[in-house]
Amino acid sequence: MTVNELKEKFISRYGAGEFHGFFSPGRVNLIGEHTDYNGGFVFPCALSFGAYLFLRKTDRKSVRFASLNLPFETEVKLEDLDKKVGKEWVNYPIGVFAQFLKKGVKFEQGADILVFGDVPNGAGLSSSAALEMVTAIAVNESWEIGLDRLELIKMSQKAEHEFAGVMCGIMDQFASGMGKEGHAIFLNCDTLDYDLVPVELDGIKIVISNTNSPHKLDSGMYNLRVSECHAAVEAISKYKPIKVLAQVSWDEFLQLEDKIENEAARKRARHVISEIERTEEAVKQLRAGNIEEFGRLMNGSHDSLRDDYEVTGHELDTMVDEARKIEGVIGSRMTGGGFGGCTVSLVKDEAIDTFIAEVGKNYELKTGLKPAFYVAEIGDGAKRLF
Ligand code: GLA
Repeated sequence: MTVNELKEKFISRYGAGEFHGFFSPGRVNLIGEHTDYNGGFVFPCALSFGAYLFLRKTDRKSVRFASLNLPFETEVKLEDLDKKVGKEWVNYPIGVFAQFLKKGVKFEQGADILVFGDVPNGAGLSSSAALEMVTAIAVNESWEIGLDRLELIKMSQKAEHEFAGVMCGIMDQFASGMGKEGHAIFLNCDTLDYDLVPVELDGIKIVISNTNSPHKLDSGMYNLRVSECHAAVEAISKYKPIKVLAQVSWDEFLQLEDKIENEAARKRARHVISEIERTEEAVKQLRAGNIEEFGRLMNGSHDSLRDDYEVTGHELDTMVDEARKIEGVIGSRMTGGGFGGCTVSLVKDEAIDTFIAEVGKNYELKTGLKPAFYVAEIGDGAKRLF
């Protein structure tokens, strides 16, 4: 849907008059998976699709929420903007309003809100972070609250913790908030220092393959991984006091690995610590123009997520295995939280048609699911549209 079409939808629902539009993108992570909540590096980029939010302030003492994607709509009193509404999608925007209330912001006026998302839901491309971030910038600008972008990113992450129950790291909200067209974000999730690295892939495209197996990134499995990492930190701390796994180098890990008695904790730590080094190396290689090496590291990332972090599963593994069989594929891996969702592959231009045809056919044969493919465009982070 175009912005003009969305405007019309807003007017036909809420009537004519002044209102404003905002957008915040989904993201694809090129490498650095499950490292963010361990203080490590990530390397995501913002996509050209994401979440749109149109907002008009009103004199009512409530906020009306509606979506063009899902039928549920509701009206919430201003004083209830910190309360969950069942398991509905509105918990993402309400979770963000709640963070403003926590900061002492007093909403005197209500609003009419219409949202629309073109990120496939549950595909591991951060549809939820996009919705949180677009709410955060829309509220911040519409009520002239004046918080800076980083604060809004942190508030969006908090909304995810408190209203969706997923104890996520900061990568998704950061990528959605800070993305820049043509660039990936090399982010140190401990210090939040970051570099925008140009992604100039001559004759190569980033292809996202959706397994169409909804990522079961329910709080359960994700939060379990988070706690297994905490267990590894605790075990290692008996020998070297650390707060996050990122404080352990790969060489140190090799010395300490046998001392982590719990097998799950040991494997999770092995993935995280190796992935942090792979990510740093991958960015170095990309900067040096060694794209083949970058692809090799992407493959290593997937294998580690499959064998040690155990977050891939039949669909993601099949998609990656089939992709790697195609000549002209530089690298392929799962992206996002895992357990379904999408893979990301670097594919030479001339191989893209074959990739889509062959991987599509073989994946469907092996899983019974019809996949979807998108050639990614790296877009800008959250912004006001009008
Ligand atoms: C989800 C989380 C992120 C990150 C990734 C895995 O997308 O929201 O914070 O942990 O999984 O890298």
